[in-house]
Amino acid sequence: KKQYKVAVIAGDGIGPEVLDEGIKILNKVAQLDGSFEFEFTQFPWGCEYYLKHGKMMADDGLEQLQSFDAIYLGAVGYPGVPDHISLWDLLLKIRKGFNQYVNIRPITLLEGAPCPLKDVTREQINMLVIRENSEGEYAGAGEWLFKGQPHEVALQTGIFSRVGTERIIRYAFEEARKQGRSLTSISKGNALNYSMVFWDQVFEEVAKEYPDVKTYSYLVDAAAMFFVKQPWRFEVVVTSNLFGDIITDLGAAIAGGLGLAAGANINPEREYPSMFEPIHGSAPDIAGKGIANPLASIWSASQMLDFFNQEDWGKRLLSAMEQVMSEGTVLTPDMGGTASTQEVGDAVVQKIEVSFQITS
Ligand code: NAD
Ligand code: IPM
Ligand code: MN
Repeated sequence: KKQYKVAVIAGDGIGPEVLDEGIKILNKVAQLDGSFEFEFTQFPWGCEYYLKHGKMMADDGLEQLQSFDAIYLGAVGYPGVPDHISLWDLLLKIRKGFNQYVNIRPITLLEGAPCPLKDVTREQINMLVIRENSEGEYAGAGEWLFKGQPHEVALQTGIFSRVGTERIIRYAFEEARKQGRSLTSISKGNALNYSMVFWDQVFEEVAKEYPDVKTYSYLVDAAAMFFVKQPWRFEVVVTSNLFGDIITDLGAAIAGGLGLAAGANINPEREYPSMFEPIHGSAPDIAGKGIANPLASIWSASQMLDFFNQEDWGKRLLSAMEQVMSEGTVLTPDMGGTASTQEVGDAVVQKIEVSFQITS
């Protein structure tokens, strides 16, 4: 039997609540399939761990994770630990340490997902955002000068390397070519007169190698506006680390909400494990109440199945989610329902079982 070794970092707040449902579903999938199984290993890292041990993860944390086939992550960050510490010492450390330089965030309006936009059809919100995930505005380079003095200055340097910029843009072109869809670059060359002028130049250079791919280029402010007004303009999208962070929360909002949006942090060369996570955070405002929406973490489980070449199962998960949302009777409060996290997880399991029995 094939075994997928998955490291689980449930993390903070609603992280453990939503991951439990994803794990439940992955185990059910393995049981139904019969040809593979999951071996989950839990790592207790996060803000509670920090308050006990003075660090977010074990000193040799990355080495401990190295041998896994994938990482399944809930959320990191909680009041009581400064966000820049919790995130830099765990989530960003893994993304960077494992060279997960591609962040794939589908912004697709699934069947039954609530959409706040008027008169928009499902086909009109169907994009794949490919976010640079290793450098750019998140390079962590900077300095805090004259701290505490009247003339203090904080510098935050974006780093856009030739290698880093070219590989993400090339990855996006390959994806657009594979899908037979257009590629849109989102940048800001008018104001960011080094980094984004360079980004735009690289985009134009690489585009010459892909004459079959139709390209567009938007300034990020206008792109934000079009996400809401005319989301059908976007098919495959490539953008920098910070812009990708922001526009995917916006994208989540038009495609069912943060409770539904998922992302994969990919190391395409497969030298290191890739990591699958919802794009939302630890949601301290609803943590511990058992009402967090588990669909985002279930969608990221579906991305993990795709990554393991179990695409049929990946699709079955999405269609089970679509059935649950279309029926509309078992949904968490963020989607207008009254169900608990576990009830939604159970409803998805049930749909998977039923559809498996029908098709096999
Ligand atoms: P958040 O995503 O945690 O929450 C924003 C809003 O969306 C809240 O009202 C929350 O209740 C709601 N929400 C989020 N996920 C939901 C779900 N599954 N079901 C229902 N409602 C949901 O963002 P925030 O409040 O800005 O950040 C909280 C903490 O999480 C901070 O420490 C932040 O740094 C961290 N964070 C971590 C990640 C990550 O680990 N990938 C991502 C974003 C934020
Ligand atoms: C996300 C999060 C992270 C990011 C934070 C928590 C560092 O917002 O995954 O979208 O900005 O990448
Ligand atoms: Mn974010």
